[in-house]
Amino acid sequence: MPHQPKADELERAAHAVRSGELVAFPTETVYGLGADALNARACAKIFEAKNRPYFDPLIVHVASFEEACQLWSKLDPRAAQLAKHFWPGPLTIVLLKAVKIPDLVTAGLATVAVRVPAHPVALELLKHAQRPIAAPSANPFGYISPTTAEHVRTQLGAQVPVILDGGPCVVGVESTILDLSAPQARLLRPGGVPVEALEALIGPVVLAEEENRPEAPGQLPSHYAPRAKLILIDDAQLCAEKVSRRVGLLAFKDASKARGYASVEVLSKSGDLAEAAANLFAALRRLDAAGLEEIHAQAVPETGLGRAIMNRLKKAAGPR
Ligand code: TXA
Ligand code: MG
Repeated sequence: MPHQPKADELERAAHAVRSGELVAFPTETVYGLGADALNARACAKIFEAKNRPYFDPLIVHVASFEEACQLWSKLDPRAAQLAKHFWPGPLTIVLLKAVKIPDLVTAGLATVAVRVPAHPVALELLKHAQRPIAAPSANPFGYISPTTAEHVRTQLGAQVPVILDGGPCVVGVESTILDLSAPQARLLRPGGVPVEALEALIGPVVLAEEENRPEAPGQLPSHYAPRAKLILIDDAQLCAEKVSRRVGLLAFKDASKARGYASVEVLSKSGDLAEAAANLFAALRRLDAAGLEEIHAQAVPETGLGRAIMNRLKKAAGPR
């Protein structure tokens, strides 16, 4: 593997976790900013480093389904079935929490969100640290999530003593979050596992964003946002647009009809949603680094991974 950290680096990172320090590490979705999930003081450092509000709960990472079961107070057969299929992988499962999990991690909720990441470096770190690791994405709160170690270094390098480099994240959008704490399964956040794949196993899943009740805690209207103002556009607007020099374009597959943009990123020339997801956050960062006033983002089809991409783009375009 091209980006495998050396054994002593992993050991140093594991030691940092055990000592209550922060470690940034790669997962298949985005880079995480991790701390010992059973140590509230360590987890408080995550909130400080990210400037994250305390009402936004963290996802806890473990190395196996058996370890996940120790963080939940009650198991659900649907969780066992989904874990068997999708773990390690970009699926986070929310169930009633075990007493030992600090309230800071769950923002006082009765539930905890848990997943087994599908990245060899993350799994090695978890095994060496011998602790569940709470980790949000390793970016300042509200900004674009990091998909390379360099993204983390640039923004949080000063606050994070250890940053493990595992290469670019292959999925590129965060995990799907599924709430199984009630009889009706609820999708709290679309992500790396398409909701269609979950429904094929456990039947209908309600989409929280289409329900008339508050969304998942922490799912604020503005998130994943570049500095430049982001505007979602459809194909017609793309062709009609008369743009000044300081507007960039984030195109899905074809930018040939676009005129006058200062800077253009194409997410997937072949129109592949998985490739588009993997490129999304890095492309947004490159556009943002170009000092633009506005970024126009072309809508993608809202099926499969497209649902997660559109969720991120809508939030990046959300009111600040
Ligand atoms: O792919 C991912 O999930 C990445 C990598 C690092 O694993 N992590 C990640 O964490 O995206 P973060 O902090 O950016 O998103 C966590 C979100 C919270 O904002 C909240 O919406 C939801 O997970 N969450 C966490 N615990 C929850 C709970 N008990 N009930 C409902 N939602 C919860
Ligand atoms: Mg995040």
